[in-house]
Amino acid sequence: MRYHDTIKRLAAAGVAALALGAAPAGADEFTKADLEKWRKEFMAVVAEGEKLFHSGKLGGNSVSCDMCHPNGANTHPETYPKFQKQLGQVATLRQMINWCIENPLEGKPLPLDDPRMIALEAYITYERRGVPLEPGKH
Ligand code: HEC
Repeated sequence: MRYHDTIKRLAAAGVAALALGAAPAGADEFTKADLEKWRKEFMAVVAEGEKLFHSGKLGGNSVSCDMCHPNGANTHPETYPKFQKQLGQVATLRQMINWCIENPLEGKPLPLDDPRMIALEAYITYERRGVPLEPGKH
């Protein structure tokens, strides 16, 4: 009967999955050297973001982010996405970074996947590491 065949096939698949689960998960393996490399790559991007944040090079009037947000203060990355009244919609951190680039800094918005945007997000978020996520919070 078809029904029984299906059950048998599912059962066999389950046993196979268990057997695979018991074996080392080859695809997910990584070494200490990998972890060290990835951490270095990440921290290099954070450092780039920190440099940009203090640079005065993101806008058109040489104002820098740290003039209003010293050390990333009052950026609240853990509250995104949330409704932002400046934008009139639920927005991401990157959209709010662009709002500051366009308004206080009188510059052109960055593409959302621009390496400088990713670096700014990495720096701002790293400064708030350990703070619980509270999307939508005001
Ligand atoms: C002249 C002052 C000024 C400068 C310079 C400035 N900002 Fe802002 N920033 C503000 C104000 C005002 C707000 C709106 C506060 C609010 O209502 O959330 C804000 C909000 C933000 C927020 C959201 C904060 C929150 O609580 O949701 C982020 C993120 C942010 N700024 C990043 C930046 C970055 C990155 C730069 C540099 C590219 C920058 N800002 C430059 C004044 C400034």
